[in-house]
Amino acid sequence: MKKNDPFENVITIDGPGGAGKSTLAQGLAHALDWLCLDTGAIYRALALTLTELGLPDATPRAAGLTAQDMGLEFRREGAQCRLFLHGREPGEALRAPEIGLLASAVSAWPEVRSALLPIQRAAGREGRLVAEGRDMGTVVFPEARLKFFLVADLSVRAERRRLELAAQGVEVTLAKVTAELKARDLADATRSLAPLAPSPGAVTVDSTDMTVAEVLALALQEAKETFDL
Ligand code: DC
Repeated sequence: MKKNDPFENVITIDGPGGAGKSTLAQGLAHALDWLCLDTGAIYRALALTLTELGLPDATPRAAGLTAQDMGLEFRREGAQCRLFLHGREPGEALRAPEIGLLASAVSAWPEVRSALLPIQRAAGREGRLVAEGRDMGTVVFPEARLKFFLVADLSVRAERRRLELAAQGVEVTLAKVTAELKARDLADATRSLAPLAPSPGAVTVDSTDMTVAEVLALALQEAKETFDL
């Protein structure tokens, strides 16, 4: 990578489900007027596509081919990247717990990860991007100048996710959300390819006892210092 590579002008946020990555990524992108990329939504889009095709038990090869052929497109709207599949916006269907679990399962496959890697890098080509996921700092944007690893206790993450879903009209019990997060944490952190892990040099933030505003203020301060803004 050359100096001044656009990928240097990327902020990565990795961490387990429900830690507040999307909220922080959106807040940072909005405050900096950068673009925000939710890469979990890409894996969820594949899981939704497989489900709709009646292929939840697809082989890794079929899932990889589907990933290349799901008509994934991003349309920029302010700081947001809106995701479309063959011109249709899947919206809240992506957030269902079973789609999260299937996304986690298919994301362990090399065929899927290699199909989705160029799509994620293409979004970062122009820099000034806040990218959130599991392997943003370790694999997709290792050159990023600022990396966060956001964590929080499981009970707090589960309650936040439950409230988030309830606000979208999806009623799920706390026990179900907790079990789903726990299963995904384990699968995402123990897979052999691009496991969830802090990148060397990442700033770890434990948001268990912090408000959204406090996490954002801390991250914004880091961003201003790192990028001389
Ligand atoms: O962030 P999320 O909960 O929407 O992600 C759904 C799943 O997608 C997650 O359990 C693992 C996978 N994922 C991944 O493997 N790599 C990423 N960069 C983002 C998500």
